[in-house]
Amino acid sequence: MIYETVRWKMADDRICAEFAGNKGLMPGKLRLIDQTLLPEKLEYVESDDIAEIHSFIKRLVVRGAPAIGAAAALGLAAAMQKSGADSRESFMCELRRSADYLASSRPTAVNLFWALGRCVDALKKSDADSPDTLKEKLLEEAFSILNEDMLLCENIGKNGATLLKDGMTVLTHCNAGALATCGIGTALAPIYIAHSRGLKIKVYADETRPLLQGARLTAWELDKAGIDVTVICDNMAGFLMGKGRIDLVITGADRIAANGDSANKIGTYSLAVLARHHKVPFYIAAPYSTIDMNINDGTAIPIEERAGEEISRSFGKQTAPPTVKIFNPAFDVTPHELISGIITEKGLILPPYKDGLKRYGLQLL
Ligand code: MRU
Repeated sequence: MIYETVRWKMADDRICAEFAGNKGLMPGKLRLIDQTLLPEKLEYVESDDIAEIHSFIKRLVVRGAPAIGAAAALGLAAAMQKSGADSRESFMCELRRSADYLASSRPTAVNLFWALGRCVDALKKSDADSPDTLKEKLLEEAFSILNEDMLLCENIGKNGATLLKDGMTVLTHCNAGALATCGIGTALAPIYIAHSRGLKIKVYADETRPLLQGARLTAWELDKAGIDVTVICDNMAGFLMGKGRIDLVITGADRIAANGDSANKIGTYSLAVLARHHKVPFYIAAPYSTIDMNINDGTAIPIEERAGEEISRSFGKQTAPPTVKIFNPAFDVTPHELISGIITEKGLILPPYKDGLKRYGLQLL
C-alpha cells in the first residue's frame, strides 16, 4: 500500500491533486513527487525508512510547510508500521524517538512540529495497549492531517478569491501551491478558485533564488492548470510594480507569530517592502497549522541556513568563485506592519493581528 501526498493527475484538462490511502492495510510506504527533479522530470519516490524520509524533507524532495507536515506524519506512520515493539511503552518510546528525529530535518516551518506533535499526542491520549492498535491509530491521525489540509486549502482559496477580480495580476514568491500542500495550495489557492470560476488572473512567479521554487514549481503547476503565468527574476518585481503591472502580492508562510510577523522564503520581506512603497496590497495565505501562538513575534522564528553550494554551485554549475564566503538563509521574516491581511481557512484576518487571530479562534493552538 502507498500513502500518497501531492500526486498529480490530469482530469478534464484540469490538474488536481489526488490523495489515496486505505486505512487498515499495512504495511505501507510514503509516496511523494521528487520536487528536486521538476520541471524536467515527474518522478516519484517511495519509502518507509525513517532516515530516508528525513532526507526527503531535508533535501527538499518534499517542501512547503503544509506538505512537510503531512509527509512527516505519513512518513512516521509508514515507518512505525514496521515496529517490532511488544508493549505500549516500547512502542511509544520508539515513536517519540522517530518523531524527534524527523523534527530535526528542517527548523523553520512550524507545520513539521505541529504535525508530528499531533501524531504523538493522539497516541498519548489513546488508551490502546496493543502496538497493532497504536499503529492503526497513528495511520488514522496522519491521514486526518492530510485530509484536513486539503479542506484548509480549499477554504483559504475561497476566502482569498474574494480579493480577486477578473483581469487582475498577482505576484507570488516561491511555491505555495498544490506541490507545497495536500490540496490546492495556500497562496495559489485563491488563484485556482478564481480560475475555476472563470476569472482571468495573470500571475507573475518570482523565480526564487537560489533553488528556483517559483520558476521550477509554481510555473509548472500553474501552467499545467492552464493559468497565465510569467516567470521573472526576483530582482524584477520592483520594476513591474513601478510600472503599475501588479495588483496584488500573495505569498505563503512557514510560520506566523502571534503578532502577525511571518516567515517565508527568503526574498518575501524585500517584496513586502517594495509592495508598501508602490502601494500594492501584500497578503499572506496560510492555514492555522502555520500559526505559532507560542511566539510573540518574528524574532523567535528559527531561520534555516542552507549549504553555500546552493548559491556557489547552482544546479551543478560554478556560479561563484569556490573560494568566496557564501551566506544562504532560506527564509526571512516580514514584519506584520507590511502585511495587508492574512488569508486563512476561517476568513481574512486584518490588522491588528493579535486581535484578529483571537477572533478567529486561532489562539487555541
Ligand atoms: O524551502 P521551501 O521550498 O520549503 O520553502 C517554501 C516556502 O517558503 C513556502 O512559501 C511556504 O512553505 C508556504 S507553502 C504553502
